[in-house]
Amino acid sequence: MTHNIAIIAGDGIGPEVVDEGLKVLRTAAEIFGFDYKTTDHPFGAEHYLKTGETMPESVITELRDMDAILLGAIGDPRIEVGLLEREIIAGIRFKLDLFVNLRPIKCPADHVCPIKDKKATDIDFIVVRENTEGAYVQMGGNFKEGTPQEVAVAEMIYTRFGVERVIRYAFELARTRPRKQLTLCDKANAIRPQDLWTRTFAEVGEEYPDITTDHAYVDAACMWMIKNPEAFDTIVTTNLFGDIITDLGSVLQGGMGVAASGNIHPGQVSMFEPIHGSAPKYKGQGRANPIATIAATAMMLDHLGETEASQAINQVVEDLIVTRRIPDLSSRSAQSTSEIGDMISEELSEIAARS
Ligand code: IPM
Ligand code: MN
Repeated sequence: MTHNIAIIAGDGIGPEVVDEGLKVLRTAAEIFGFDYKTTDHPFGAEHYLKTGETMPESVITELRDMDAILLGAIGDPRIEVGLLEREIIAGIRFKLDLFVNLRPIKCPADHVCPIKDKKATDIDFIVVRENTEGAYVQMGGNFKEGTPQEVAVAEMIYTRFGVERVIRYAFELARTRPRKQLTLCDKANAIRPQDLWTRTFAEVGEEYPDITTDHAYVDAACMWMIKNPEAFDTIVTTNLFGDIITDLGSVLQGGMGVAASGNIHPGQVSMFEPIHGSAPKYKGQGRANPIATIAATAMMLDHLGETEASQAINQVVEDLIVTRRIPDLSSRSAQSTSEIGDMISEELSEIAARS
């Protein structure tokens, strides 16, 4: 079986980090003996400036028949704020119904743990971010724009169907983890309609008596993530809150340079990407940290059923961080982009040669 993978390298540092993800993918395929075929897509700022096209409907149709999508980064200061991000990243998430945004937050080593008196083992949780509803539905707009009477409306939409399926996914995920614990993160005290989350969580929870449930309002969750990160195992939350708390979470992992995510619809084509943006100011310097994209590639392999390859990549990355051969986990790394990709690739080959 050949895995068909669509590549959207995108803007800024996207192409540089995707190159390294593909380097590691190539090595993993040789070692673990799987086949794959990549199809490159040009979407992003340059393509938009040339053609006026963001993400054509025909391509969405093509993507549906792929096994996975690897995306670098989208966004360019020359273009209207958020246009490409909404139409390409959010466009793919919504149109392919990738309702889970999975964001693991695991600190790889004590020396990169940013919190005083905490160890790497205190930070090992995973955020299940709802990915197709909430504040991202683009319902609303600006009335009397630019006048003193301007009105801005932005709706948050939650459906029973959408909330239930992501909560159910989170319960199933919590079940696969040793601590069997799931925290609902919302703001249902101030945003009363989020009571739908509270009720659905309680109802679905009845089917999972083996899972310990917990609740944190999003503001308190931010505090606990710093004060007592060990309190969290699996977190399920809304689209917007998931976006926000996982940027905070990236710091707990050592830096934005390592934070990866999967936009998932179980059993269907899914998209994997680093959490960081296109960082236009670092473009072309060869200094962007590719670890997040390499970790996203590992998540993609897991989705494709190449579990061994996925685990091996994660293990190699962790080892290189623990032994300080990769000392810098920020977005702009002390080492070069290709140097990090080479190291991970070579280490993967060495482990294979030894076993
Ligand atoms: C992310 C990003 C996106 C989001 C932007 C680029 C639309 O911040 O993947 O976290 O808000 O979801
Ligand atoms: Mn974000």
